[in-house]
Amino acid sequence: MTKRVYIKTYGCQMNEYDSARMADVLAPLGFAAADSPEEADMVVLNTCHIREKAAEKVYSELGRLSRLKRQRRAAGGEFLIAVAGCVAQAEGEEMLRRAPFVDIVCGPQAYHRLPELMERARNEPARGAIDTDFPAESKFDHLPEAAAPQGIAAFLSVQEGCDKFCTFCVVPYTRGAELSRPAAAVLAEARRLVAQGAREITLLGQNVNAYHGEATDGSSWGLGRLVRALAAIDGLWRIRYTTSHPRDMDDALIAAHRDVPQLMPFLHLPVQSGSDPVLERMNRRHTADDYRRLVERLRSGRPDLALSSDFIVGFPGESDADFVATLRLIEDVGYAQSFSFKYSPRPGTPAADMPDQVPEPVKAARLAELQALLKRQQDRFNHAAVGQVMTVLFDRPGRLPGQLVGRSPWLQPVHVPVHVPGHVNDATLGLGMMREVRIVASHANSLAGALPEPGGQEASRSGAAVLEHVPA
Ligand code: 5AD
Ligand code: SF4
Repeated sequence: MTKRVYIKTYGCQMNEYDSARMADVLAPLGFAAADSPEEADMVVLNTCHIREKAAEKVYSELGRLSRLKRQRRAAGGEFLIAVAGCVAQAEGEEMLRRAPFVDIVCGPQAYHRLPELMERARNEPARGAIDTDFPAESKFDHLPEAAAPQGIAAFLSVQEGCDKFCTFCVVPYTRGAELSRPAAAVLAEARRLVAQGAREITLLGQNVNAYHGEATDGSSWGLGRLVRALAAIDGLWRIRYTTSHPRDMDDALIAAHRDVPQLMPFLHLPVQSGSDPVLERMNRRHTADDYRRLVERLRSGRPDLALSSDFIVGFPGESDADFVATLRLIEDVGYAQSFSFKYSPRPGTPAADMPDQVPEPVKAARLAELQALLKRQQDRFNHAAVGQVMTVLFDRPGRLPGQLVGRSPWLQPVHVPVHVPGHVNDATLGLGMMREVRIVASHANSLAGALPEPGGQEASRSGAAVLEHVPA
């Protein structure tokens, strides 16, 4: 009989990817996906620990699940509760003490061992099974190859963990040391994804541009080299990667942005702050001007490159002048989109014990001002697209009937009506296709587009010079 698993994912794209891999691990055990915990025989919470009260949120979700488990058990059924991800890693045994009804606690490096953990949990239901090791062997060597198809825009994890130790961040503790997958394994997975219909691949890693995968000749490939090899895969039209550290933007990767048309002109390059003393205390190992110069170099090779970033306001000791320096950096660079957060002390990280913690109201006021500036930049960026023609890769149906949604090279969602009566392209536009689209309007988080009139002359923005790949 088919059993069902409900996987709830918190946090980053790495977790989304890991959740899909966990589903792959559970499929051979007869588990299909459930749409809710109520329909499931097993629930996995794939948790995130990066900011704010993450553990408390997980415990309150677990409270709800424990009631469900009691009901299910009373009716003679099975209900396994597994906690995976970074909260599982950080809490470890403590989680089984505080929530003894949890069956499995599984850190991010141990997903391939889920079947064993389930077996142990079933054999000893009173104890709970835990695995928060950082095993010497990579989980990637043990995950099943035949992953479920991911669709047109797919994710591929190439690197995990981080050795940077920014003083605010838990990742080096929860995800462990930096580890890169061998280049051949990445290329094989990319070919498989493309064979299953992927046309765009986003390479994932906590610090993805620190990638240094072993090549078959024993040498080590950086991300620039990997991107070039991926670009040679027939049928792979678009490549992206996230998330990067400015210090790991090496010459080869900067050159790849200039030379590889498949590498999309949109880069998430977190800077966190524009103040040198704050960057120093964050242990970011670069100055604000280093970052400005880096952006200049990237844009000199790829003038249409758009950027996004992460910002933290209210880091310990951040003065008004430090904050203004961040605003100035944002104005100098000009972002297409960004994420911004109030500093949240994470237990066990150096910044949590630094003096001069910034009061909450100050953090809130700074965040509002920063977000208003970022929003103005995002609106300006989206508005500048109106009237332009750009390639759109259609990857999902729209919310309205007769509409398709795709992404611009700059990651903007573009909504296009498919059925334009009498239009020459009408019959051929579909999911998985890439088309030149004229942008007719911009909204807060998306663009509206139309297929250009056949034969019409349109001003074209570059960004995806791979039109020869467009299906006829
Ligand atoms: N407080 C606030 N934001 C944080 N981030 C990471 N740790 C913290 C923290 N303790 C943000 C950083 C990072 C993003 C993924 O989350 O901006 O780039
Ligand atoms: Fe965390 Fe990113 Fe810094 Fe690594 S580089 S410690 S993941 S913020």
